[in-house]
This record gives sequence, C-alpha cells and structure tokens, in this order.
Amino acid sequence: MTDEDSRDDLIIRIAGEGGEGIISAGDFITQACARAGLEVYTFKTFPAEVKGGYAMYQTRTSSRPIYNHGDTFNVLCALNGEAYTMNRAALRPGTAFVYDSHGDFEPEIPGDVHAYAIPMTQAAKELGTPKAKNMVALGALSRLFGIPADALLEVLSGKFSKKGDHVVDGNVRAFERGRELAAELTKTDPWHVAEPAQRGETVLMSGNDAIGLGALIAGLDFFAAYPITPATEIARYVARHLPKRGGTLIQAEDEIASISQVLGASYAGKKAMTSTSGPGLALMSEMLGMAFMSETPCVVVNVQRGGPSTGLPTKHEQSDLFLSIHGSHGDAGRIVLSVENVRDCIDLTVKAFNLAEKYQVPVLLLSDGSLAFSTQSVPYPDPDAYTIENRKRWDGEGEYKRYAFTADGISPMCDPGTPGGMHMATGLEHNDAGAPNYSPANHEAMQAKRFGKLATVVADFPQAEIDGDDDGDEADLGIIAWGSTIGVVREAVARLRAEGHAVRGFYPKLLWPMAVEQYETFAAKCKRLLLPEVNWQGQLAHFVRAETSLRPESYTICGGLPFNPAMVVSRAKEMLS
Ligand code: COA
Repeated sequence: MTDEDSRDDLIIRIAGEGGEGIISAGDFITQACARAGLEVYTFKTFPAEVKGGYAMYQTRTSSRPIYNHGDTFNVLCALNGEAYTMNRAALRPGTAFVYDSHGDFEPEIPGDVHAYAIPMTQAAKELGTPKAKNMVALGALSRLFGIPADALLEVLSGKFSKKGDHVVDGNVRAFERGRELAAELTKTDPWHVAEPAQRGETVLMSGNDAIGLGALIAGLDFFAAYPITPATEIARYVARHLPKRGGTLIQAEDEIASISQVLGASYAGKKAMTSTSGPGLALMSEMLGMAFMSETPCVVVNVQRGGPSTGLPTKHEQSDLFLSIHGSHGDAGRIVLSVENVRDCIDLTVKAFNLAEKYQVPVLLLSDGSLAFSTQSVPYPDPDAYTIENRKRWDGEGEYKRYAFTADGISPMCDPGTPGGMHMATGLEHNDAGAPNYSPANHEAMQAKRFGKLATVVADFPQAEIDGDDDGDEADLGIIAWGSTIGVVREAVARLRAEGHAVRGFYPKLLWPMAVEQYETFAAKCKRLLLPEVNWQGQLAHFVRAETSLRPESYTICGGLPFNPAMVVSRAKEMLS
C-alpha cells in the first residue's frame, strides 16, 4: 500500500461515555462522508446501560470499496479519561489524537503522536450548552480532517430539529466553536478525508434497516415483534414502512408468542417473519420444530450477540450457529443463511423468504451485533430487480391433501376458507391429509418427505464465493469465513496475496444444509485451512469437521469485538511460515 493509498483510507474513532452523544457524533461523521460521495463502513460498541460506560464509534471512509471496519484508527477523539485509557495502547506513531483538554484526564502523549488539545467541556459550558460538548469535538474534527462542514451542519440540524430550535442553534454554535478552536492549532498530521470518486447512486443503511427493507421487497405481510438488543431496529424499520403497504406488525408479549403468531399468519397464507437475538431464538426453538413438522414457511432473523444467557447484549459474537442449526427437539430440519454485509442484509433476506416459500420450511437468517449497527453505503436497491418466489398453491382440482406426496416433494398449500381446502396443520405426526397418524411407516415416510425437500437447497443457492485465483496452483492456505468475518478475511486475503502469498478465501452464506462438495472442492486446492470465527467453541469449524473430510485450524476470539484484518493476516503468516 502506498502512502497515497493509506491517505485514501481514513479511520476516525470517537470515544467517551454513554450518554455523551458519541453515537450521534459518529453518525454525523458517517452521514457527512457518505453525502460527500465516499464509501463508509462503521463499527460502534456501547454498554448495555442507557447512561455511563465506554461508548465508541469508528468510521472508516475511502473513495474505494471497503469491506470491514479496519485494523485500528488513524484519528482518535477522546471525550473522557476512560476513552483515553481504553485506547492509549493504540496511539501509534503518526496517529492523530484530539482530546478534551478541560476534561477529567491528563493524557501522556507519545512524542510521535499528533496531539490536538481542545477544551471541549469548557467551550460547551461557556456557550450555555454543556450537552453539546460532542459538537465542539465534531467541529474540531471537521476542521482538522476535512469532514465537510456543510454536510455535518445539515445532518446535525436534521437530527436535533425534533428537540427544538434552541437545541439546534446551541449545537450549531458549539460546532462552529469547535472549528474555531481547531483553527487556532497547527495541523501536523497527514490525515484528511479522501476526495470522492465517481460512483452510482447509493444509500446509507444499517444492517438492521437493510434486513427490514429486504423483507419489504420480498413481499412481507406480517411481522411479529418482540424487542431485544441488537435486533430491535429491524422491527422499528418494519413498523415505519409495513403499514403503508397494508401489512401488519404486532408487538407480541414474548418471543414464544412472536413465533407462534408468525406461524399462524403463514398458515393463513401470508408472508411472515420475526427478528430476535440468541435468548429469543432459544425460546422459539419448540415452534421452529412445529414449523418444520407442519411445513409452514417462515423467516426468523437472529442478530447474534455475546452469550451465553443474557451475556453481553450490545456486543458482537457469532455464537448461535449450534442453536440455529440444531436448536429444536426431535429430528427437525431448517435452512440457515448468514449475511456478510449490509448489501447481503437486503439480498439474503429476499432469498430467505424465497426459500421459505418454495420449500415450506423455517429459514433462519443470521446477522450479528457489529453488522446490526454498522452503517454502510450500498447501491440504491431496485425492488424490481429481485426475483420473488411464492408458495405452491392448490389449483382447486380433486381432493385436497395438504401433505400430498409429489414429485418435487412440495405439497400445494391452500389458505383457510378455500372451498374444499379444509385441512389441519399440526405438530402431531400426520398423514398426507393432515390427520394424526403415528404408524412407523407413516412417520418414516413423512420424515423422508420433509428432509427430502432440503436435498435440493444447496443446488438452489449460489455457490460459495472463492476469493483468489480459483484455477491456479494449489494455495498454501485457504481461509474459510462466515458472517461479517468474511469482510475482514477479504482484506486479509488481498493483503497476503499482495505480499506474494498463495492464499484463497472461501465464503459460504448458506450454512445449512451444508454445501459439502463446495467445501471439499475448495479444500482440495489448499494445503492447509484456517477458519476464524467469533465464538469460543469454533462452531462452524465443528460442523466442517463433522460434515466433511476437512480439518481446518480453528481460530476463535470472543471478547465482544469482531476480528480485524491484521489479526487474520498475522495468524495466516504463522501458518504459512
Ligand atoms: N444535544 C442534544 N442532545 C444530544 C446531543 C447534543 N449535542 N448529543 C446527543 N444527544 C442526545 C441524542 O439525540 C440521544 O437522544 P435520544 O435518546 O432522544 O435520541 C441521546 O442524547 C443519547 O445520545 P447518543 O448519541 O444516541 O448515544 P450515546 O453515545 O450518548 O450513548 C447509548 C448512549 C446509545 C449507549 C445508550 O443510550 C444505549 O442505548 N445503550 C444501550 C441500551 C441497550 O440496548 N441495552 C441492552 C438491554 S438488553
């Protein structure tokens, strides 16, 4: 990477206390950069408490595509002592450090760090707007690093307008004061927001909002909501938009009620979904078995967070794969997809509905804490460009049998109330007409029918992407990744290849049923395999070992944070050496 390249890849981290407006300030930087035509990728982390604790927002921005939040920051803005302490070790030579010089801390600044002391607390107090300390910081950042001031003023005014004109005015004054204070300092660092490149129309979305949008594109009719961090914003997005198109969202009393309502709506012929996180998915496991048994299409989004139990509600983890694939009693199947980025959150939500409708099975879509809150610029989605699949329906001819054995294994469905179409959908084992039947031969035949449908799912889903030279010689190392870790591995693979290493990546998004042949084909051209994932037990590595002949080296972390590319590069180099 040349110096010029690295200037085109700027990472700004703003940190302070929850309640100090860190998230708002970070959002404003992100929106202003996106409006200026830049690519953005954000990562935020905050405590489970509404006030207090360490909050951090990182915006990576470039004129070129970005796939993850980056290794570490180029610019740190610390609003309090904890923010400084938490990040002190990452203040590397050449980084810029903007801090509150009238705050609760006296930083020790290494000689090769570019430090800018801004009296944020004092300036905000003098203006009579103590809450606007974050806007003093934002003004200073705008001046020092070229974040477009006009765009920042526009987004901050928009955000605070519902709090009243006096709040907007106070924040604008604080922002301007921050710019003045920064103008009095001499800029010594090289960091500056990049010049935007030419690109098509894009929209800035969070992972959660994008899932909501994908559901609307897929033709969602009914959403059962029960709030849980970090999934709640999906319901919030759907609540804003679904009623406008005649759909219904109901807030249920708990997750068991949510999934039950979803199955009821789907039985009634509607496209239905719910979203949750690990603890909620655990509660839904019985009804997911019911969905498989009764062949009721449904989509459940699981935005994974740190566990087990209540765990780390606001933190990142990829630890619900065991639960998602096998979390049900009896022998129950399902389809499990996972998303890499915000674009996937739209596309794979549509795909999840298509698969649920086509195969009449529950489809679980896995996202995660960092992607849920990450905002990224994505090409403006064209709803007409998506293929939408609907369930196979009864044509009204002959005797209706809800679970009729058919050539493709899929039985036609029929809405309640259709003349001649009366049927039972039950969790009890049943015959082809839906009547209870516990005979050994019937149970065997029905299990074979239900699992038989899943046999063609792999062929019906796009092949897992191979990153790197697919036709070339055997690679020294193959890296398998899933979920948002894929974006990190993409960059790691690119860096390793740029250094001359023979490395490839393999990025499955259909996790279950497992595309065994695709894993085997990929691995056949790699001397060794590495599988990084954010959980303790190495959950995907476990399934790879169980289902294929492969023995990937498992690389797990579970500190509530995602990987960064440097970590993967470093582990890969250990293996390559
Ligand atoms: N002037 C006026 N108001 C301002 C402001 C300013 N300069 N800067 C921020 N604010 C407001 C924001 O608009 C927001 O108000 P709102 O709640 O009315 O939208 C509020 O102050 C908080 O600011 P924000 O920037 O959104 O967050 P923060 O960085 O201060 O961090 C959180 C607070 C997000 C960490 C915390 O509130 C939270 O939600 N924690 C997570 C809770 C959770 O999910 N727990 C899990 C339970 S299982």
